[in-house]
Amino acid sequence: MRSSIPAGLSHKEAELYSRLDPARFPQHIAIIMDGNGRWAKRRHLPRIAGHRSGVFAVRNTVQCASRIGLPALTLYAFSVENWLRRPKTETSFLMGLLRRYLKIEMPAFQEHNVRVQFIGRWRELPAEVQERMDWAIAETASNTGLILTFAINYGGRSEIVDAVNSILAQSRRNGNHAEIDEEAIEQHLYTSHLPELDLLVRTSGEMRLSNFLLWQAAYSEIFVTDALWPDFNGVKLLEAIAEFQTRERRFGGIHAIHPPSVQPA
Ligand code: IPE
Ligand code: IPE
Ligand code: MG
Repeated sequence: MRSSIPAGLSHKEAELYSRLDPARFPQHIAIIMDGNGRWAKRRHLPRIAGHRSGVFAVRNTVQCASRIGLPALTLYAFSVENWLRRPKTETSFLMGLLRRYLKIEMPAFQEHNVRVQFIGRWRELPAEVQERMDWAIAETASNTGLILTFAINYGGRSEIVDAVNSILAQSRRNGNHAEIDEEAIEQHLYTSHLPELDLLVRTSGEMRLSNFLLWQAAYSEIFVTDALWPDFNGVKLLEAIAEFQTRERRFGGIHAIHPPSVQPA
């Protein structure tokens, strides 16, 4: 079992952490942050109140992920479909919230050595949002701790389409017409620089992927919690990791396989 507990964890987080197996620590966790609207509805509040409270859950989860030395955390914040199918008032609020979040959170990103990145078709977002995102990337570019990736205007299918088009453009430039294989697609996905996705978490009890990391989730473990996103936190993240460690991953074989794990901080 683990010898040292990272500094800064709450009592409950430390207790859960002490029971984890260092040899089976996930390298990359992704979370579908769902249920903000329902959280607000239960309190007779407007949906945007749920999104606002969701920011506290992001802060607490990121802080815990960073303290326990998780290499990569990817958060599904906004889908292509959200952009197309939600009222303009809600999408505008979410864009403003993202801008404010990135600004307010910057000192914490620096303190915790967090590197911020984005995946998705975020170049289609309003210029002032892109500017703040570019700023967050640049400010944290030399940080070497947790890679925190926000999926914004993201779709799993559009990611695969973008990867294939990028391969086609490259082969046109190079004048070669090699067949496309899995490795080529992997190298052109938005996540090509991230570790394999070990654990996919979804809040609010929905048993679906909602177009998130379709390619990457091929052999990920899936953990669904009934907690609504604003009620998620570092403790629940550690509970998800504990559950992950009980799973037997076989990758299509007949014996359990433990992919190479990193020693967290
Ligand atoms: C998730 O909460 C946040 C985003 C998709 C931006 P929802 O807004 O989907 O909340 P529910 O699912 O309606 O409760
Ligand atoms: C998934 O939640 C997308 C994000 C969390 C950003 P949705 O609320 O958009 O998914 P559905 O509509 O329930 O499938
Ligand atoms: Mg939802």
